[in-house]
Amino acid sequence: MKTRVLTGITTTGTPHLGNYVGAIRPAVTASRRDDVDAFYFMADYHALIKCDEPSRIERSRLEIAATWLAAGLDPGKVTFYRQSDIPEIPELTWLLTCVTAKGLLNRAHAYKAAVDKNTEAGEDADAGVTAGLYMYPVLMAADILAFNAHKVPVGRDQIQHIEMARDIAQRFNHIYGSEFFVLPEVVIEEQVATLPGLDGRKMSKSYDNTIPLFAGGAKQLREAIMRIVTDSRAPGESKDADGSSLFTIYQAFAAADETAAFRQALQDGLGWGEAKQKLFERIEADVAPMRERYEALIARPADIEDILRDGAQKARATATPLLTTLREAVGLRSMAKASTKVSQPAAAAAKDKPPRFASFRDGDGRFRFRLFAGDGEELLLSGPFADPKAAGTLQKRLREAGGAGVALDAEGDRGDLRVDGEIVATTPDYPNTAARDAALVRLREVLDRLSTPD
Ligand code: TRP
Repeated sequence: MKTRVLTGITTTGTPHLGNYVGAIRPAVTASRRDDVDAFYFMADYHALIKCDEPSRIERSRLEIAATWLAAGLDPGKVTFYRQSDIPEIPELTWLLTCVTAKGLLNRAHAYKAAVDKNTEAGEDADAGVTAGLYMYPVLMAADILAFNAHKVPVGRDQIQHIEMARDIAQRFNHIYGSEFFVLPEVVIEEQVATLPGLDGRKMSKSYDNTIPLFAGGAKQLREAIMRIVTDSRAPGESKDADGSSLFTIYQAFAAADETAAFRQALQDGLGWGEAKQKLFERIEADVAPMRERYEALIARPADIEDILRDGAQKARATATPLLTTLREAVGLRSMAKASTKVSQPAAAAAKDKPPRFASFRDGDGRFRFRLFAGDGEELLLSGPFADPKAAGTLQKRLREAGGAGVALDAEGDRGDLRVDGEIVATTPDYPNTAARDAALVRLREVLDRLSTPD
Protein backbone atom coordinates (compact mmCIF):
# COMPACT_ATOMS: atom_id res chain seq x y z
CA MET A 1 0.00 0.00 0.00
CA LYS A 2 1.18 3.50 -0.78
CA THR A 3 1.80 6.08 1.89
CA ARG A 4 -0.57 9.00 1.57
CA VAL A 5 1.42 12.19 1.97
CA LEU A 6 -0.60 15.38 2.28
CA THR A 7 0.36 19.00 2.64
CA GLY A 8 -1.26 22.40 2.27
CA ILE A 9 0.09 25.69 0.98
CA THR A 10 -1.48 28.87 2.34
CA THR A 11 -2.26 31.15 -0.58
CA THR A 12 -1.40 34.62 0.63
CA GLY A 13 1.89 35.48 -1.04
CA THR A 14 4.02 35.16 -4.15
CA PRO A 15 6.49 32.28 -4.04
CA HIS A 16 10.12 33.21 -3.36
CA LEU A 17 13.39 31.26 -3.50
CA GLY A 18 13.03 30.21 0.14
CA ASN A 19 9.63 28.61 -0.59
CA TYR A 20 11.09 26.86 -3.60
CA VAL A 21 14.06 25.33 -1.80
CA GLY A 22 12.30 24.68 1.51
CA ALA A 23 8.92 23.39 0.38
CA ILE A 24 8.21 23.21 -3.35
CA ARG A 25 11.30 21.40 -4.57
CA PRO A 26 11.31 18.68 -1.85
CA ALA A 27 7.54 18.16 -2.20
CA VAL A 28 7.74 17.77 -5.98
CA THR A 29 10.61 15.29 -5.58
CA ALA A 30 8.68 13.30 -2.96
CA SER A 31 5.59 13.22 -5.16
CA ARG A 32 7.48 11.30 -7.85
CA ARG A 33 8.17 8.32 -5.60
CA ASP A 34 6.21 5.21 -6.51
CA ASP A 35 5.39 4.37 -2.91
CA VAL A 36 3.82 7.79 -2.31
CA ASP A 37 0.23 8.88 -2.98
CA ALA A 38 0.60 12.65 -2.75
CA PHE A 39 -2.25 15.03 -1.92
CA TYR A 40 -1.13 18.66 -2.29
CA PHE A 41 -3.59 21.48 -1.98
CA MET A 42 -3.95 25.20 -1.77
CA ALA A 43 -5.16 26.15 1.69
CA ASP A 44 -7.25 29.06 0.47
CA TYR A 45 -9.72 28.89 3.37
CA HIS A 46 -6.74 29.27 5.68
CA ALA A 47 -5.61 32.22 3.58
CA LEU A 48 -8.86 34.03 4.43
CA ILE A 49 -7.88 33.93 8.10
CA LYS A 50 -4.77 35.97 7.34
CA CYS A 51 -5.87 38.14 4.46
CA ASP A 52 -9.06 40.04 3.66
CA GLU A 53 -7.98 41.44 0.29
CA PRO A 54 -9.88 39.49 -2.38
CA SER A 55 -7.52 40.48 -5.19
CA ARG A 56 -4.50 39.25 -3.27
CA ILE A 57 -6.19 35.93 -2.51
CA GLU A 58 -7.12 35.56 -6.16
CA ARG A 59 -3.67 36.45 -7.45
CA SER A 60 -1.85 34.26 -4.95
CA ARG A 61 -3.92 31.17 -5.74
CA LEU A 62 -3.11 31.51 -9.42
CA GLU A 63 0.58 32.21 -8.86
CA ILE A 64 1.02 29.36 -6.43
CA ALA A 65 -0.80 26.87 -8.65
CA ALA A 66 1.27 27.91 -11.68
CA THR A 67 4.48 27.78 -9.62
CA TRP A 68 3.92 24.23 -8.39
CA LEU A 69 3.01 23.01 -11.85
CA ALA A 70 5.99 24.82 -13.40
CA ALA A 71 8.26 23.27 -10.77
CA GLY A 72 7.33 19.85 -12.12
CA LEU A 73 4.30 18.73 -10.14
CA ASP A 74 2.47 16.19 -12.31
CA PRO A 75 -1.29 16.53 -11.76
CA GLY A 76 -1.73 13.10 -13.39
CA LYS A 77 0.18 11.48 -10.56
CA VAL A 78 -0.50 13.83 -7.66
CA THR A 79 -3.91 14.89 -6.39
CA PHE A 80 -3.57 18.68 -6.65
CA TYR A 81 -6.57 20.78 -5.61
CA ARG A 82 -7.97 23.80 -3.82
CA GLN A 83 -9.26 23.38 -0.28
CA SER A 84 -12.26 25.55 -1.16
CA ASP A 85 -13.32 23.10 -3.90
CA ILE A 86 -13.90 20.37 -1.32
CA PRO A 87 -17.18 20.94 0.57
CA GLU A 88 -16.40 17.93 2.74
CA ILE A 89 -13.61 19.90 4.43
CA PRO A 90 -15.84 22.54 6.11
CA GLU A 91 -18.39 19.83 6.77
CA LEU A 92 -15.82 17.73 8.58
CA THR A 93 -14.53 20.84 10.33
CA TRP A 94 -17.88 21.11 12.08
CA LEU A 95 -18.01 17.45 13.11
CA LEU A 96 -14.51 17.83 14.53
CA THR A 97 -15.31 21.16 16.18
CA CYS A 98 -17.96 19.39 18.22
CA VAL A 99 -15.45 16.98 19.76
CA THR A 100 -12.57 19.45 20.13
CA ALA A 101 -11.89 20.73 23.62
CA LYS A 102 -11.93 24.51 23.71
CA GLY A 103 -8.99 24.30 26.08
CA LEU A 104 -6.95 22.58 23.39
CA LEU A 105 -7.45 25.54 21.06
CA ASN A 106 -6.57 27.98 23.86
CA ARG A 107 -3.11 26.42 23.83
CA ALA A 108 -2.44 26.85 20.09
CA HIS A 109 0.79 28.84 19.56
CA ALA A 110 -0.63 31.36 17.11
CA TYR A 111 -3.64 32.13 19.27
CA LYS A 112 -1.56 32.30 22.44
CA ALA A 113 0.91 34.66 20.81
CA ALA A 114 -1.96 37.00 19.88
CA VAL A 115 -3.33 36.87 23.44
CA ASP A 116 0.10 37.49 24.97
CA LYS A 117 0.66 40.46 22.70
CA ASN A 118 -2.71 41.94 23.65
CA THR A 119 -2.14 41.36 27.34
CA GLU A 120 1.27 43.02 27.18
CA ALA A 121 -0.26 46.02 25.44
CA GLY A 122 -2.90 46.24 28.16
CA GLU A 123 -5.68 45.36 25.70
CA ASP A 124 -8.51 42.88 26.03
CA ALA A 125 -6.99 39.40 25.66
CA ASP A 126 -8.97 38.64 22.50
CA ALA A 127 -8.74 42.06 20.87
CA GLY A 128 -8.50 41.68 17.09
CA VAL A 129 -8.60 37.88 17.29
CA THR A 130 -11.10 36.34 14.88
CA ALA A 131 -12.85 33.05 15.51
CA GLY A 132 -11.11 31.99 12.28
CA LEU A 133 -7.69 32.31 13.87
CA TYR A 134 -8.96 30.44 16.89
CA MET A 135 -10.38 27.63 14.75
CA TYR A 136 -7.34 27.40 12.47
CA PRO A 137 -6.15 24.08 13.96
CA VAL A 138 -9.56 22.41 13.53
CA LEU A 139 -9.78 23.39 9.86
CA MET A 140 -6.28 22.06 9.40
CA ALA A 141 -7.20 18.79 11.14
CA ALA A 142 -10.13 18.45 8.72
CA ASP A 143 -7.77 19.03 5.75
CA ILE A 144 -5.71 16.07 6.87
CA LEU A 145 -8.36 13.72 8.26
CA ALA A 146 -10.78 14.08 5.32
CA PHE A 147 -8.24 12.09 3.31
CA ASN A 148 -6.83 9.88 6.04
CA ALA A 149 -3.30 11.02 5.29
CA HIS A 150 -0.49 9.04 6.89
CA LYS A 151 2.26 11.65 6.64
CA VAL A 152 2.17 15.40 6.69
CA PRO A 153 5.38 17.23 5.74
CA VAL A 154 5.42 20.72 7.26
CA GLY A 155 7.74 23.34 8.71
CA ARG A 156 8.61 23.26 12.38
CA ASP A 157 6.09 25.96 13.20
CA GLN A 158 3.32 23.56 12.20
CA ILE A 159 4.22 20.60 14.44
CA GLN A 160 1.71 21.55 17.10
CA HIS A 161 -1.07 21.62 14.51
CA ILE A 162 -0.37 18.03 13.48
CA GLU A 163 -0.33 16.97 17.12
CA MET A 164 -3.70 18.62 17.55
CA ALA A 165 -5.04 16.83 14.47
CA ARG A 166 -3.99 13.53 16.05
CA ASP A 167 -5.64 14.49 19.31
CA ILE A 168 -8.87 15.45 17.63
CA ALA A 169 -8.87 12.30 15.48
CA GLN A 170 -8.33 10.12 18.52
CA ARG A 171 -11.10 11.81 20.38
CA PHE A 172 -13.55 11.36 17.51
CA ASN A 173 -12.57 7.70 17.09
CA HIS A 174 -13.06 7.15 20.77
CA ILE A 175 -16.41 8.89 21.12
CA TYR A 176 -17.94 7.23 18.07
CA GLY A 177 -16.29 3.91 18.74
CA SER A 178 -14.40 3.04 15.58
CA GLU A 179 -11.12 3.75 13.81
CA PHE A 180 -12.60 6.25 11.39
CA PHE A 181 -9.40 8.23 11.19
CA VAL A 182 -5.80 7.31 10.63
CA LEU A 183 -3.60 9.21 13.10
CA PRO A 184 -1.38 11.42 10.90
CA GLU A 185 2.34 11.70 11.48
CA VAL A 186 4.33 14.86 11.11
CA VAL A 187 7.35 14.81 8.78
CA ILE A 188 10.07 17.40 9.26
CA GLU A 189 12.59 17.33 6.44
CA GLU A 190 15.86 17.80 8.30
CA GLN A 191 18.13 17.82 5.28
CA VAL A 192 16.16 20.54 3.48
CA ALA A 193 17.90 23.90 3.56
CA THR A 194 16.39 26.96 5.16
CA LEU A 195 17.54 29.77 2.93
CA PRO A 196 18.88 32.97 4.41
CA GLY A 197 17.38 36.14 2.94
CA LEU A 198 19.03 39.32 1.66
CA ASP A 199 19.91 40.44 5.20
CA GLY A 200 21.12 37.03 6.43
CA ARG A 201 18.04 36.26 8.53
CA LYS A 202 15.76 33.41 7.42
CA MET A 203 14.21 34.30 4.05
CA SER A 204 10.66 35.30 4.86
CA LYS A 205 7.99 37.61 3.57
CA SER A 206 7.58 38.99 7.09
CA TYR A 207 11.22 40.16 7.13
CA ASP A 208 10.90 41.68 3.66
CA ASN A 209 14.20 40.06 2.69
CA THR A 210 13.09 37.67 -0.05
CA ILE A 211 14.43 36.89 -3.50
CA PRO A 212 11.56 36.34 -5.95
CA LEU A 213 11.36 32.99 -7.71
CA PHE A 214 9.68 34.02 -10.99
CA ALA A 215 8.23 37.48 -10.41
CA GLY A 216 10.02 40.17 -12.41
CA GLY A 217 11.95 37.65 -14.49
CA ALA A 218 15.72 37.18 -14.66
CA LYS A 219 16.24 40.93 -14.26
CA GLN A 220 14.68 41.11 -10.79
CA LEU A 221 16.30 37.87 -9.75
CA ARG A 222 19.68 39.35 -10.60
CA GLU A 223 18.92 42.66 -8.91
CA ALA A 224 17.84 40.95 -5.71
CA ILE A 225 20.96 38.79 -5.67
CA MET A 226 23.12 41.90 -6.05
CA ARG A 227 21.51 43.23 -2.85
CA ILE A 228 22.55 40.24 -0.69
CA VAL A 229 24.48 41.61 2.27
CA THR A 230 28.16 40.57 2.43
CA ASP A 231 31.11 41.62 4.57
CA SER A 232 33.41 44.35 3.31
CA ARG A 233 36.32 42.22 2.14
CA ALA A 234 37.77 43.47 -1.13
CA PRO A 235 38.48 41.36 -4.22
CA GLY A 236 41.70 39.42 -3.64
CA GLU A 237 41.04 39.03 0.09
CA SER A 238 40.22 35.52 1.28
CA LYS A 239 36.56 35.05 2.25
CA ASP A 240 34.90 32.71 4.70
CA ALA A 241 32.29 30.73 2.76
CA ASP A 242 30.52 29.36 5.83
CA GLY A 243 29.83 32.80 7.26
CA SER A 244 28.25 33.99 4.02
CA SER A 245 24.55 33.73 3.11
CA LEU A 246 25.53 34.06 -0.52
CA PHE A 247 27.41 30.77 -0.21
CA THR A 248 24.54 29.10 1.65
CA ILE A 249 22.15 30.00 -1.15
CA TYR A 250 24.63 28.77 -3.77
CA GLN A 251 24.93 25.47 -1.94
CA ALA A 252 21.14 24.99 -2.03
CA PHE A 253 21.24 24.91 -5.84
CA ALA A 254 24.64 23.47 -6.72
CA ALA A 255 26.00 19.92 -6.74
CA ALA A 256 28.71 18.98 -4.21
CA ASP A 257 31.62 19.49 -6.62
CA GLU A 258 30.37 22.89 -7.79
CA THR A 259 29.93 23.92 -4.17
CA ALA A 260 33.47 22.86 -3.29
CA ALA A 261 34.85 24.84 -6.23
CA PHE A 262 32.87 27.92 -5.19
CA ARG A 263 34.15 27.64 -1.63
CA GLN A 264 37.71 27.43 -2.92
CA ALA A 265 37.22 30.44 -5.18
CA LEU A 266 35.95 32.54 -2.25
CA GLN A 267 38.87 31.44 -0.15
CA ASP A 268 41.19 32.41 -2.97
CA GLY A 269 39.81 35.93 -3.00
CA LEU A 270 36.92 35.93 -5.53
CA GLY A 271 35.29 39.37 -5.31
CA TRP A 272 31.74 39.58 -3.94
CA GLY A 273 30.48 41.18 -7.13
CA GLU A 274 31.72 38.30 -9.23
CA ALA A 275 30.49 35.79 -6.66
CA LYS A 276 27.02 37.29 -6.94
CA GLN A 277 27.14 36.99 -10.72
CA LYS A 278 28.11 33.30 -10.37
CA LEU A 279 25.29 32.76 -7.90
CA PHE A 280 22.85 34.41 -10.27
CA GLU A 281 23.98 32.21 -13.15
CA ARG A 282 23.74 29.06 -11.07
CA ILE A 283 20.19 29.81 -9.90
CA GLU A 284 19.12 31.03 -13.32
CA ALA A 285 20.22 27.71 -14.85
CA ASP A 286 17.60 25.95 -12.69
CA VAL A 287 14.96 28.64 -12.69
CA ALA A 288 14.93 29.75 -16.36
CA PRO A 289 13.22 26.62 -17.77
CA MET A 290 10.70 26.67 -14.94
CA ARG A 291 10.05 30.36 -15.47
CA GLU A 292 9.27 29.67 -19.09
CA ARG A 293 6.69 27.05 -18.11
CA TYR A 294 5.36 29.38 -15.43
CA GLU A 295 4.76 32.16 -17.89
CA ALA A 296 3.03 29.83 -20.33
CA LEU A 297 0.79 28.54 -17.56
CA ILE A 298 -0.10 31.86 -16.06
CA ALA A 299 -1.11 33.12 -19.50
CA ARG A 300 -3.78 30.40 -19.61
CA PRO A 301 -5.56 30.55 -16.26
CA ALA A 302 -8.53 28.60 -17.63
CA ASP A 303 -6.27 25.58 -18.11
CA ILE A 304 -5.12 25.83 -14.51
CA GLU A 305 -8.75 26.04 -13.45
CA ASP A 306 -9.42 22.77 -15.31
CA ILE A 307 -6.46 21.04 -13.70
CA LEU A 308 -7.59 22.08 -10.23
CA ARG A 309 -11.18 21.05 -10.87
CA ASP A 310 -10.01 17.61 -11.96
CA GLY A 311 -7.89 17.48 -8.83
CA ALA A 312 -10.88 18.33 -6.66
CA GLN A 313 -12.88 15.57 -8.27
CA LYS A 314 -10.11 13.09 -7.56
CA ALA A 315 -9.82 14.29 -3.98
CA ARG A 316 -13.55 14.10 -3.38
CA ALA A 317 -13.60 10.47 -4.47
CA THR A 318 -11.89 9.85 -1.12
CA ALA A 319 -13.60 12.48 1.03
CA THR A 320 -17.22 11.97 -0.01
CA PRO A 321 -17.58 8.33 1.10
CA LEU A 322 -15.72 9.06 4.32
CA LEU A 323 -18.11 11.90 5.16
CA THR A 324 -21.07 9.64 4.41
CA THR A 325 -19.72 7.18 6.96
CA LEU A 326 -19.07 9.93 9.48
CA ARG A 327 -22.51 11.50 9.13
CA GLU A 328 -24.01 8.08 9.72
CA ALA A 329 -21.72 7.48 12.68
CA VAL A 330 -22.72 10.66 14.49
CA GLY A 331 -26.43 10.00 13.91
CA LEU A 332 -27.12 12.25 10.91
CA ARG A 333 -28.88 9.39 9.15
CA SER A 334 -31.55 9.01 6.55
CA MET A 335 -34.99 8.86 8.09
CA ALA A 336 -36.31 6.95 5.12
CA LYS A 337 -34.48 3.86 6.22
CA ALA A 338 -36.05 3.84 9.67
CA SER A 339 -39.58 4.85 8.65
CA THR A 340 -40.10 2.52 5.69
CA LYS A 341 -39.16 -0.57 7.65
CA VAL A 342 -41.11 -0.02 10.85
CA SER A 343 -43.52 2.51 12.23
CA GLN A 344 -42.20 4.91 14.86
CA PRO A 345 -43.26 3.13 18.07
CA ALA A 346 -42.22 -0.19 16.62
CA ALA A 347 -38.89 1.33 15.66
CA ALA A 348 -38.31 2.32 19.25
CA ALA A 349 -39.14 -1.19 20.38
CA ALA A 350 -37.01 -2.71 17.64
CA LYS A 351 -34.08 -0.64 18.73
CA ASP A 352 -34.19 -2.46 22.02
CA LYS A 353 -34.42 -5.87 20.44
CA PRO A 354 -31.11 -7.67 20.32
CA PRO A 355 -29.57 -8.69 17.03
CA ARG A 356 -29.91 -12.37 16.17
CA PHE A 357 -28.45 -15.12 14.06
CA ALA A 358 -30.65 -17.30 11.89
CA SER A 359 -29.16 -20.64 10.72
CA PHE A 360 -30.34 -22.57 7.72
CA ARG A 361 -29.33 -25.20 5.17
CA ASP A 362 -28.83 -24.05 1.63
CA GLY A 363 -29.87 -25.87 -1.55
CA ASP A 364 -26.61 -27.80 -1.59
CA GLY A 365 -27.21 -29.10 1.90
CA ARG A 366 -24.52 -26.91 3.41
CA PHE A 367 -24.94 -24.88 6.58
CA ARG A 368 -25.11 -21.12 6.66
CA PHE A 369 -26.48 -18.37 8.84
CA ARG A 370 -27.60 -14.79 8.57
CA LEU A 371 -27.14 -11.97 11.05
CA PHE A 372 -30.08 -9.61 11.52
CA ALA A 373 -30.16 -6.33 13.42
CA GLY A 374 -32.88 -5.89 16.07
CA ASP A 375 -35.10 -4.10 13.55
CA GLY A 376 -34.90 -7.00 11.13
CA GLU A 377 -32.36 -5.58 8.69
CA GLU A 378 -30.16 -8.29 7.24
CA LEU A 379 -26.51 -7.46 7.78
CA LEU A 380 -24.48 -10.58 7.02
CA LEU A 381 -24.62 -13.91 5.27
CA SER A 382 -22.05 -16.48 6.32
CA GLY A 383 -20.11 -18.66 3.94
CA PRO A 384 -21.23 -22.27 3.53
CA PHE A 385 -20.01 -24.88 6.00
CA ALA A 386 -20.17 -28.63 5.53
CA ASP A 387 -20.41 -29.05 9.29
CA PRO A 388 -23.09 -27.27 11.35
CA LYS A 389 -20.66 -27.14 14.27
CA ALA A 390 -18.27 -24.97 12.27
CA ALA A 391 -21.10 -22.52 11.60
CA GLY A 392 -21.85 -22.49 15.34
CA THR A 393 -18.21 -21.85 16.18
CA LEU A 394 -18.14 -18.84 13.89
CA GLN A 395 -21.27 -17.41 15.53
CA LYS A 396 -19.66 -17.81 18.93
CA ARG A 397 -16.53 -16.15 17.67
CA LEU A 398 -18.48 -13.17 16.34
CA ARG A 399 -20.27 -12.84 19.69
CA GLU A 400 -16.90 -12.64 21.43
CA ALA A 401 -15.10 -10.44 18.93
CA GLY A 402 -17.34 -7.36 18.88
CA GLY A 403 -17.06 -4.72 16.17
CA ALA A 404 -13.41 -4.04 16.88
CA GLY A 405 -12.43 -7.70 16.77
CA VAL A 406 -13.18 -8.39 13.12
CA ALA A 407 -11.83 -7.10 9.84
CA LEU A 408 -14.38 -5.59 7.49
CA ASP A 409 -13.26 -4.84 3.96
CA ALA A 410 -15.21 -2.90 1.42
CA GLU A 411 -15.50 -4.89 -1.81
CA GLY A 412 -17.39 -3.01 -4.49
CA ASP A 413 -20.88 -2.36 -3.22
CA ARG A 414 -20.69 -4.95 -0.46
CA GLY A 415 -18.49 -5.70 2.56
CA ASP A 416 -16.48 -8.81 3.42
CA LEU A 417 -15.95 -9.96 6.97
CA ARG A 418 -12.68 -11.72 7.57
CA VAL A 419 -11.49 -13.85 10.44
CA ASP A 420 -7.80 -14.81 10.42
CA GLY A 421 -7.53 -13.35 6.94
CA GLU A 422 -10.27 -15.50 5.43
CA ILE A 423 -13.58 -14.21 4.17
CA VAL A 424 -16.19 -15.97 6.34
CA ALA A 425 -19.23 -13.81 5.69
CA THR A 426 -20.41 -11.06 3.36
CA THR A 427 -22.94 -8.26 3.57
CA PRO A 428 -25.79 -7.92 1.10
CA ASP A 429 -25.06 -5.81 -2.00
CA TYR A 430 -25.89 -2.15 -1.48
CA PRO A 431 -26.97 0.34 -4.13
CA ASN A 432 -23.75 2.32 -3.85
CA THR A 433 -20.56 2.67 -1.85
CA ALA A 434 -22.07 5.32 0.42
CA ALA A 435 -24.84 2.95 1.47
CA ARG A 436 -22.24 0.22 1.86
CA ASP A 437 -20.13 2.36 4.16
CA ALA A 438 -23.13 3.28 6.25
CA ALA A 439 -24.06 -0.40 6.51
CA LEU A 440 -20.55 -1.32 7.62
CA VAL A 441 -20.74 1.24 10.41
CA ARG A 442 -24.05 -0.25 11.50
CA LEU A 443 -22.64 -3.78 11.30
CA ARG A 444 -19.84 -2.86 13.67
CA GLU A 445 -22.34 -1.43 16.12
CA VAL A 446 -24.44 -4.58 15.95
CA LEU A 447 -21.38 -6.75 16.53
CA ASP A 448 -20.54 -4.59 19.53
CA ARG A 449 -24.02 -5.09 20.84
CA LEU A 450 -23.65 -8.87 20.40
CA SER A 451 -20.46 -8.90 22.38
CA THR A 452 -21.97 -6.94 25.28
CA PRO A 453 -25.45 -8.40 25.78
CA ASP A 454 -27.64 -6.38 28.11
N1 TRP B 1 -0.97 25.78 8.10
C1 TRP B 1 -0.08 25.36 7.07
C2 TRP B 1 1.02 26.41 6.92
O1 TRP B 1 0.79 27.56 7.22
C3 TRP B 1 -0.80 25.17 5.75
C4 TRP B 1 -1.79 24.08 5.86
C5 TRP B 1 -3.14 24.20 5.90
C6 TRP B 1 -1.47 22.70 5.94
N2 TRP B 1 -3.70 22.97 6.02
C7 TRP B 1 -2.74 22.04 6.05
C8 TRP B 1 -0.29 21.97 5.97
C9 TRP B 1 -2.80 20.66 6.19
C10 TRP B 1 -0.37 20.58 6.09
C11 TRP B 1 -1.62 19.94 6.20
O2 TRP B 1 2.10 26.05 6.49
